[in-house]
Order: sequence, then C-alpha cells, then structure tokens
Amino acid sequence: MDSQTFLKKLDSIPDIPTLPNIVIEVNKMLQDYDTSIKKLCNIIEKDQAMVTKILRLVNSSFYGFRSKIKNISHAIIILGFNTIKNAVVSVSIIKTFSGKKTFGGFEITDFWRHSIAVAVTSMYLSEQTKLDSPDDCFVAGLLHDIGKVVLSQHFTESFSQVWKSVKEDGLSFFEAEQKLLPVNHARIGGYLAKKWQFPVSLIDTITHHHQIRKTVSNLNQLIIVHTADTIANNYEIDSDITPVFSAIDPEAKKAMAGQLETVSDWFPDVAAEIESACEFFLTEE
Ligand SMILES: [Fe+2]
Ligand SMILES: [Fe+2]
Repeated sequence: MDSQTFLKKLDSIPDIPTLPNIVIEVNKMLQDYDTSIKKLCNIIEKDQAMVTKILRLVNSSFYGFRSKIKNISHAIIILGFNTIKNAVVSVSIIKTFSGKKTFGGFEITDFWRHSIAVAVTSMYLSEQTKLDSPDDCFVAGLLHDIGKVVLSQHFTESFSQVWKSVKEDGLSFFEAEQKLLPVNHARIGGYLAKKWQFPVSLIDTITHHHQIRKTVSNLNQLIIVHTADTIANNYEIDSDITPVFSAIDPEAKKAMAGQLETVSDWFPDVAAEIESACEFFLTEE
C-alpha cells in the first residue's frame, strides 16, 4: 500500500473520530472579529459538562489563581479568549479519544501522559523563549502524536507490526514506522488535523514534529514541540540520567540551546506541573 492509498483509507473509515460540535463552533467563532464574551459563553454554556470541567480547570493549581472563578465569562475575562478556547479543545479531544481504553498493548492512559508531558513542556518553553503563544503550544503538544491513536484503532494490523518491531528490534516508534509503513503517525495526525480544519500552524507542527522543515507556517511552534517531545521522551526513559539529545534536530538544538543546557535545573518543576495536569485531565469526575 502506498501513502496515498493509506491516507485515502482514512477517508473511508465510517467511525473516524469527528470533533464535537462545541470545538468546531468555538474555533469558527474566534476567527470572527466581533466575537463577544457573551457569544462565547453562550456556546460553552450549552454543554454543562464542559462548563463544570472548564471551571475545575481554571480553579485548579494548574493556573494558580487565588480567588475563585465562578463562571465562564469571569474565566474568559481573567484568562482570555485563547486560553478558554484551547481549554475547550483540550478537554474535548481527550474525551473523544479515550472511549476505548487499550488497543493491543497500547495504553491510552500512557499515551495521554506522554502527550500532556509534551503539552506542558511546550508551554513552558514558549513562556521562557517568547517564541510563540503558550496556549497554542499546549494544544500542539497535546495533539502531536494523535496519529498513533488512529493507527492503533483503525490500522490494527500495521500498528501491531510496528509495535512488535519496537519491542523486538529496539527501534523507536517512528523508526519502526519508517521501516514498515508507507506513512507515519505524524502524517496521519496532520491529515486528521486538516480534516478537522485546524489552523495551518497546528497541521504543520503535527505533520513535521519528527523532522523539522524550515518552510512550515510557524517554525517556532514546530521547534518548541519537537524539543519538548525529545525532552519528555528522555525523562520517560530514566529521570536520573543526564539527558542525551541525539534525537534532536540541529535547528531546534540551536534555537533552544539555553533551555537544553539548563534542562536538569528546570525540568523537575515542570514535571510537577505535568503531574497536576495529568491528574486534572485524566481523572473522571
Ligand atoms: Fe511522534
Ligand atoms: Fe511524542
């Protein structure tokens, strides 16, 4: 099967995940200049479960506000449109993809732990370097590996081949895919993001997160997510060793030199934030 046939097959899958309406509406709305706080509130308030979840998020230690935020319009005023939009997107995506728990050795909870680690680390890197919006980087980090879920749910045969090779040949997931499949999870994720009409920068970051391409629409975001992914992978293997960054792209290494040199100083704090984010996003209420 070539890459086109593979991606075409994605189109013909009847139960390919579709995004909840709320995400589509919120996304569409923010491209409008005259979006008012009231309009955004109305959309979110149609979904009471979402309201509860967002209020829990903005009042959690993750944002660290001392006074209690009581309603969605208050949350928008304090945290801004973009933060609330991205919170809605994050909550919806995790919910959409967590229906089935495991697929042949692939643990969805481990998957989200990694994605949340990359999201929080990306947010930290963007805050430190001021190279991109921290909220956009969070969502890009959260979604960077989404293609893996689709692969494991809808291309089980290919997925188990790759998984076997990871276990037996000591390859990384990406290396095994390059060897065995016509496309990789990055392409699949990018394809899906396009179908969902996500911003071009997000599509580009997902598609190229393993191999930096300088011509993407937002190179800074791509570099941040790529670097955060490498850091998260290093610490998932062993938190006590000095991290090695052989897998990192030279372009990213140059742009993130300061952060990489001091990673063992700041990562423990970020790791604590990752824990609290996991606790929030991965516990059912
Ligand atoms: Fe990946
Ligand atoms: Fe990853």
